[in-house]
Amino acid sequence: MTIAQKLSFDVQLSDHARTAAEREQVLANPAFGQFFTDHMISIDYTEGQGWHDARLMPYGPLSLDPATSVFHYAQELFEGLKAYRQSGDSIVTFRPYANAARFNRSAARMAMPELPEDTFVEALELLVRTDREWVPTTEGHSLYLRPFMIATQPALGVNYPSRTYKFMVIASPSASYFTGGLKPVSVWLSTEYTRAAPGGTGFAKCGGNYAAAFVAQRQAVEQGCDQVVWLDAHEHRYVEEMGGMNLFFVYGDKLVTPALTGTLLPGITRDSILELAADLGLETEERLVSVDEWQEGCASGELTEVFACGTAAVVTPVGTVKGADRSWTVGDGTSGPVTMRVREELVGIQYGARPDAHHWVHKIA
Ligand code: PLP
Ligand code: COI
Repeated sequence: MTIAQKLSFDVQLSDHARTAAEREQVLANPAFGQFFTDHMISIDYTEGQGWHDARLMPYGPLSLDPATSVFHYAQELFEGLKAYRQSGDSIVTFRPYANAARFNRSAARMAMPELPEDTFVEALELLVRTDREWVPTTEGHSLYLRPFMIATQPALGVNYPSRTYKFMVIASPSASYFTGGLKPVSVWLSTEYTRAAPGGTGFAKCGGNYAAAFVAQRQAVEQGCDQVVWLDAHEHRYVEEMGGMNLFFVYGDKLVTPALTGTLLPGITRDSILELAADLGLETEERLVSVDEWQEGCASGELTEVFACGTAAVVTPVGTVKGADRSWTVGDGTSGPVTMRVREELVGIQYGARPDAHHWVHKIA
């Protein structure tokens, strides 16, 4: 029997950290996912030995053998969450144990080792505490945290998964995901491509899902839309999710969201909104939603609003929908009151302006 040992992190601080002035220049206009803090976390895994060599180190490139498994077979997964600066200067994350649990569900699907949830959260805490000056003070900005894991064995055989892995966390100060603030997005219904099929990796947050999505996202942009909407693989009839977001359909005071069939990512924002809905006096329903229902609901006026949600995108209204043979507007194409109310409540909890009745906020520093 192996006894799980608590990992202790070796701390190596950067001797070339950016100056306060350089940091402020980045924080004045951080965009999304383009700039990174001064440090990163790395933990190695070896079959038979478990996790070892946990360290905080200066942010910088990795040196890997060209035969390293991840380059060839994409045995990789990631997570995404944010650190928020609340008033009083405390820094918090939102439901980090939910990300840790999803990380391990993704790991199981990708034949990769699970990381103890406490180690996952400790790694986030150590990085954010070390680079706490990088957590933006600007309203609506945050420090986006990107934990990920790669297969590191330098071998091309596919008869057995990699026997070595590396877990890392990097952090990126971020403004809103969509440029142009909170304007409604336009979406493209992809019928040519499929994101995920039953038995596949749709529910896992693995890089390959995103690699396979770029061609459809590019098509969406070519069609003049902001985002691709994925439909079920079998009939292209039911709505699954967006590029990096889940979807909600608002029927008056009822929120309907596609059921977790295994082909869409179980978003933590989605789950939080389903719970918050009751606090806001809204009903909820998880079920299949077809494209026809979406179009007909907008035509009849029964379907009043549609919004997308996710860590990066928060809560973003969907204004217009376009497919190969049809297009329509949701409501009057602007953001609706239920969307705004849900957004305000969620963001309010994250930034400390509203009470955290569900105990989702996790203080880091
Ligand atoms: N769907 C996909 C494909 C995503 O990449 C994301 C982002 O993480 C989401 C949904 C929303 O998940 P969450 O709310 O946990 O960020
Ligand atoms: C997130 O919201 O964390 C995402 O993963 C979206 C993204 C792939 C940028």
